Amino acid sequence: MIRAKPEVEALTPYVAPLEGRRSLLRLDFNESTVGPSPRVVDAIRSLPPDAYGTYPEYAGLNEAYATTLGVPASHVEAFNGVDAAIRAVFDAYGEKGSTFLTTVPTFGYYEPCAQQHGMVIDEVPYADDLQYPLAAITRKLEARPRLLFVCNPNNPTGTLLAPPAIAALARSAPQTLVVVDELYVAFTGQSVVSIALELPNVVALQSLSKAAGIAALRLGFAIGHPTIVERLRRVTGPYDINMFAVVAGRAALADPDHVRRYVAEVLAARTWTLGEFRRLGVRHAGDGGNYLLVWPPGDCERVVQGLREQGILVRSMAGKPVVDGSFRLTIGTLEHMRRFIAAFSAVAFSHSGSAR
Ligand SMILES: Cc1ncc(COP(=O)(O)O)c(C=O)c1O
Repeated sequence: MIRAKPEVEALTPYVAPLEGRRSLLRLDFNESTVGPSPRVVDAIRSLPPDAYGTYPEYAGLNEAYATTLGVPASHVEAFNGVDAAIRAVFDAYGEKGSTFLTTVPTFGYYEPCAQQHGMVIDEVPYADDLQYPLAAITRKLEARPRLLFVCNPNNPTGTLLAPPAIAALARSAPQTLVVVDELYVAFTGQSVVSIALELPNVVALQSLSKAAGIAALRLGFAIGHPTIVERLRRVTGPYDINMFAVVAGRAALADPDHVRRYVAEVLAARTWTLGEFRRLGVRHAGDGGNYLLVWPPGDCERVVQGLREQGILVRSMAGKPVVDGSFRLTIGTLEHMRRFIAAFSAVAFSHSGSAR
């Protein structure tokens, strides 16, 4: 058998348990639990058949996103989901033997991208209280790594680093490209976009997968210096974003109230859920995003499995440094969280042999 590149032969691929989820309450991948604006569905339904046979047209898409952010379109580039933007960053900037600096645990797709390019991976763990390891990262930037990724808020810990702290990191390391994955920005309101307009070594990544509810269609954006986003475009295929994503993205952006309403609903449900965990005496964490980490009493895997039997999916963090023994819980609407808490109370506090 012909062998792939050594880096690919040695690669641990990113695998997510995504099959067979549709009929269940999906609180495992931080998707919207209500889906997109009805305008998205209408726009897709009204496509004429010739739209299927024609290569997609992208005119106006970057401009539409730039308008929602209030930034010049030259600073914005669309991708086939933020995953594709992440891949483009490594394709364009991830030189073999150079250093990729990040934290652990964090979003699982960065590491295989760095591995594929033969980068040296330097992952600094979060503190036990899940604080961002700011002092250690600041120190490591002195060695001028090629790339620093800040997942903000971090998935899965929920750790939020204030944008001025990120700006200070970037200013201290002008040779390092600082990529800030802001996938959950709709829920935190804390963005580095204004910093990315000012500092040429900062790129923000945002997506329509979560709050806007079109995860299946794949549309994300990189926001940064025009030269940087142009280099990311260079390493991307000419038709990598499909026509459904373009149509859905435009329709989603034309209905910002849908996202606003959903975010408000999630934030209210989050407050209620936090109150329930306090009442139950269950350890939990998460400063930002539409998700929390939950440490159930007793065996976490038994609780995750018990919830699945009740038709509810959550994501186990088994084996991950710092957060082992917890599961990640997506916050949906209040109705969804009431259903979750009822099932969780029954599953976690039955036969666990553990009071709290
Ligand atoms: C932190 C983070 N970055 C990127 C992604 C991927 O985003 P997209 O669906 O836009 O590819 C996810 C998906 O869960 C995520 O949590």
